[in-house]
Amino acid sequence: MRLATIGRMFSYRHAFHAGNHADVLKHTVLIATLQHLLQKDAALTVLDTHAGAGLYRLDGDYASTSAESADGILRLVPPAAPAALAPALQDYVDMVRAFNQGEATRVYPGSPFIAQRLLRAQDRLKLFELHPTDARALAGNVAQLDAGRQVAVLAQDGFEGARQFLPPPSRRALVLCDPSYEIKSDYARVQDMLQDALKRFATGVYAVWYPIIPRPEAHELPRRLKTLAQKAGKSWLHATLTVKSGKTAPAGTAPGRRPGLPASGMFLINPPFTLDAALRAALPQMAELLAQDRHAAWTLEGGAP
Ligand SMILES: C[S@@+](CC[C@H](N)C(=O)[O-])C[C@H]1O[C@@H](n2cnc3c(N)ncnc32)[C@H](O)[C@@H]1O
Repeated sequence: MRLATIGRMFSYRHAFHAGNHADVLKHTVLIATLQHLLQKDAALTVLDTHAGAGLYRLDGDYASTSAESADGILRLVPPAAPAALAPALQDYVDMVRAFNQGEATRVYPGSPFIAQRLLRAQDRLKLFELHPTDARALAGNVAQLDAGRQVAVLAQDGFEGARQFLPPPSRRALVLCDPSYEIKSDYARVQDMLQDALKRFATGVYAVWYPIIPRPEAHELPRRLKTLAQKAGKSWLHATLTVKSGKTAPAGTAPGRRPGLPASGMFLINPPFTLDAALRAALPQMAELLAQDRHAAWTLEGGAP
């Protein structure tokens, strides 16, 4: 791999974005999905192909550089907390609050810590993180959990690494695929991984996050995943959350500064049958509470085999 590619790949740090509107969508879906899967006693394996550092400080140097959480999770917790939230959104807020003591929300759990908190003794969590700094931070954070063999941190490529665990011994798995998409090839790699994963383990639950940005690959990814699911005869669910127009920079944005991510989506193959209703109640609230301009919106569509 050329050095330039490595440099570009490692420029993404999730700490800048922790708790933003994309995390609200992604982690609400993750929690609702896990809650359903954990109703059965049989062991579940969770593969997090792009794990990040696991835990973030919202008042730390990285997060406050962009303060994206101010327009994300911090709009949903005290003192801003709205009166009544849809159950899936309330479960998400409760999860984040469980990592915080007192009134302020200073700590934000990433997908590894959200999943680990919900898992039972018989379940397994495999965390892939390629960035050396984040992989070290993740390993350090996970070590404090004293979770023993339940949680494994693998400083490897998650697209490749996840395959070796499919199918899992218990034949029950959730694969969360949450790349940073800084490299254009990530879009194709998501599709390749899912195609291969469905061949290895057709009944797994697959959840992919992607950014909605003016880039052909980003636009095509959900269409391609839909085709993939339909060809494999699998059910699918596709949720999107838009918080602002992708065209205009918000008032006060310095000239030349990137306006920030306007929207993102979650695409699931073999989603829990309860997820559609849970998101149909939560998404309108997310769009309303996280709106940055009048273009805020949500969509939810799905298909049966
Ligand atoms: C969007 S962040 C993950 C956030 C995390 N899933 C969460 O919800 O808290 C993407 C992460 O993937 C890492 N990464 C990039 N390419 C990777 C690869 N090929 N395999 C594993 N991790 C990768 C980045 O270093 C970054 O930490």
